[in-house]
Amino acid sequence: MVSRVIPVDPFDLVLFGATGDLAQRKILPGLYHRFEVGQMPEDARIIGTARSDMDDAAFRAVVQDGIKQFAPEYKTDILARFLDCVEYIPVDALGDAGWPELKKKLRPDAVRAFYLSVGPSLFSGIAQRLHDHGLATPESRIVVEKPFGRDLATAKALNAGLRACFEEHQIYRIDHYLGKETVQNLMALRFANSLFEPLWNATHVDHVQITVAESIGVDGRGAYYDQSGAMRDMIQNHLVQLLCLTAMEPPSKFTPNSVRDEKVKVIEALEPVEQQDIARGQYKPQNGEDGYLDHVGDPNSRTESYIALKVHVGNWRWAGVPFYLRTGKRLRARESEIAVVFRDPPHTIFPNVGHLRGNVLVIRLQPDEGITLRTTIKDPGPGGFRLADVSLDMSFAEALGADVRPQDAYERLVMDVIRGDQTLFMRGDEAEAAWAWVDPIIQGWEGGRDRPAPYDPGSSGPEDALMLMHRDGRRWRQIGG
Ligand code: BG6
Repeated sequence: MVSRVIPVDPFDLVLFGATGDLAQRKILPGLYHRFEVGQMPEDARIIGTARSDMDDAAFRAVVQDGIKQFAPEYKTDILARFLDCVEYIPVDALGDAGWPELKKKLRPDAVRAFYLSVGPSLFSGIAQRLHDHGLATPESRIVVEKPFGRDLATAKALNAGLRACFEEHQIYRIDHYLGKETVQNLMALRFANSLFEPLWNATHVDHVQITVAESIGVDGRGAYYDQSGAMRDMIQNHLVQLLCLTAMEPPSKFTPNSVRDEKVKVIEALEPVEQQDIARGQYKPQNGEDGYLDHVGDPNSRTESYIALKVHVGNWRWAGVPFYLRTGKRLRARESEIAVVFRDPPHTIFPNVGHLRGNVLVIRLQPDEGITLRTTIKDPGPGGFRLADVSLDMSFAEALGADVRPQDAYERLVMDVIRGDQTLFMRGDEAEAAWAWVDPIIQGWEGGRDRPAPYDPGSSGPEDALMLMHRDGRRWRQIGG
């Protein structure tokens, strides 16, 4: 399969926080890859800004180091040409220094995007200065990273700060999960095929499991993480987005607002979650390795590094179908998937084969992106009629061919900003609706005295999470199977 590259228009991308971790790890390598395949034009410009005083050459050296580390398959001649597009201006995000110089750099006829790869406390101030110094035009775009607030009140304040200077159609709130290839494929699977959609409802689906398991811990970012926890860091955004794409009604068109309208309806239909339907955990120390409490430096922390919860989407399509969500750090493997578990066949015609299990459609997000359908077949060979479960397995890597490099989410999302396509970005009301659902859940445990249950690193989470499923007569799919 050959991937098609449509070049975007010439652009000036101003990257705030350009020397930070995300810029070096994801955004700049992502842009390099788009340059390498010819999607980013040679006359596009990336203007890094940060507080540090350095010149273009010093910043290019920083970018070059990042790309060598995070895009190690780079080509030397192409990297040199890419670096020609890179410039730097020191700008004080909290003061007035640097803004007039930055303004002078921007071309009136290029697409203009401001990418705020900085903490949310700086969003409103930067938006205001872009506006006051006359850098923001009616066509320019502003991109903000997560976390988009830590509750409904802070998300509303961020929205108000951004909307004071930019229109909603100019604001791009990143949830990088939406840029993952398989996540977009979920929409293709559902809405470009006629096989699944008729079965995609409470009549045929028994339950859905959404898992985002990580093997790494929070060392190195304990200070941020301990103020956040798995509910705010992962469920409110990434897992809610996966749930939305799984549960939403078909939009009438594939346009940003049609898709986002349908997602908002799902979030608004989420029912409150009882505390008994939640399991929270913290990973323990093991074999001399630090545990969660050591990583965050607070022996009394009650923040969760793991959470599992049972969620109901209160609408006609999904009445009575539980969506089980779980995510955690230091688990057995890095593995993310959405598993749609269909109801068991209602009747068995085959003698002595035991209970027939329902089909399971698994959308694997990472690693080894693909789609698997668990089906039951006759166990091949003589000796009576026995049945076996087998997987119809489609790996994207195999289907696309070895020469197609899987795109990182950021590559796709940054190009969408330049194209002016907001489909894969969260709208302001969507972010607020997600917090409106999450806030009472968090308040529920904050009001209690329970501590997250300790779990072994390398396991699949705390015992309570297993019980959450067992109580319902179901089982989690194995992590790292
Ligand atoms: C980030 C979270 O948004 O997503 C991190 O803040 C998490 O805690 C990361 O590790 C996971 O992203 P990915 O793409 O590696 O699954």
